[in-house]
Amino acid sequence: MAAAQEMVGLARITRPVLQVAAEPVSLPVIDLGQLRKHSRTRSLAIQEIGRACERHGCFQVINHGIHESVTWGALEAASDFFNLSSEEKAEFESKDLRKPVRYEAVYKNDCHKARELLKHYAHPLGEWIHFWPMTPQRYRERMGRYGRVVRKIALLLMDSILESLGLGPAYLKEKLEEGMQVMVMNGYSERSRSAPVLGLAPHSDYGCITILLQSCKGLHIFDEESECWREVPEVPDTLHVHIGDHLEVMSNGKYKRLVHRAVLNSRTRTSIASIHGLSMNEKVTTAEELVDEQHPKGYRDSSFLDFLDFITSKNKTGGSNFIDSLMLTGN
Ligand code: OGA
Ligand code: NI
Repeated sequence: MAAAQEMVGLARITRPVLQVAAEPVSLPVIDLGQLRKHSRTRSLAIQEIGRACERHGCFQVINHGIHESVTWGALEAASDFFNLSSEEKAEFESKDLRKPVRYEAVYKNDCHKARELLKHYAHPLGEWIHFWPMTPQRYRERMGRYGRVVRKIALLLMDSILESLGLGPAYLKEKLEEGMQVMVMNGYSERSRSAPVLGLAPHSDYGCITILLQSCKGLHIFDEESECWREVPEVPDTLHVHIGDHLEVMSNGKYKRLVHRAVLNSRTRTSIASIHGLSMNEKVTTAEELVDEQHPKGYRDSSFLDFLDFITSKNKTGGSNFIDSLMLTGN
């Protein structure tokens, strides 16, 4: 797709008010137990993942094997952190996007705190955990435990997603195993009458896949087919998985990144987005196997560090989205 055309598309979906469909979206549900089996059951599940990625850019995962005490422990650790005093959180406050741990409170209309976020690197855990907050007391233990198990799921899913693209089992295996994981803890305020509706503006995530854990509903996804926002329903014990910019690049546009946003609710909400990709300076490149005469290479190579450079300069100058900057024109 030509870059100009794509820009028009993003301008359309980033318009502040857009229709929200009355019905929540019905997303494909993948039973992770089936991926751990062999032969036919596994290949059917992989086909299902492929269809979900192509049609929706996301899916939900059940039977993931993460104990409820681990998911709730992580959500509670995040909300306990957000409940600390402003002075305690200020230690991590920074606008420098390269910091391994970064806290920010996002205000809308100057005075309403819509969202707080704590972002930190999480893989290799031993390298990063000593930068993480020491209070609340069990933060490192609880977030570390969740981070470790969710990463295993991400690797299993990436393996299946690449297989659904027809790329062999060894494709990028080592690079993904050495890859990065960024965890973003979000704390959304409750919606008040005068406050804005949006907690997090429309965007796509930069990694290959994001696994989102949420305390209650509030995530909206943009449905290209109906051209409106759709609410992701709340299903207990489910993880939400969506495609990021770098998987779109890798798949030569076969699987598109998901544009999503978060809205405020009548109660506070906590979410944890775990973003998985290749390591910081490893360039993500379009799989040669997916390039041919009908499908010329559509994207420039880029790394996570390139993304950081891009958003740092974008914050200064404004401008387009990361994925737009990667698109090669003439396709
Ligand atoms: C994110 C994100 C969605 C949510 O952190 O990138 O999209 O529901 N979060 O909090
Ligand atoms: Ni996101």
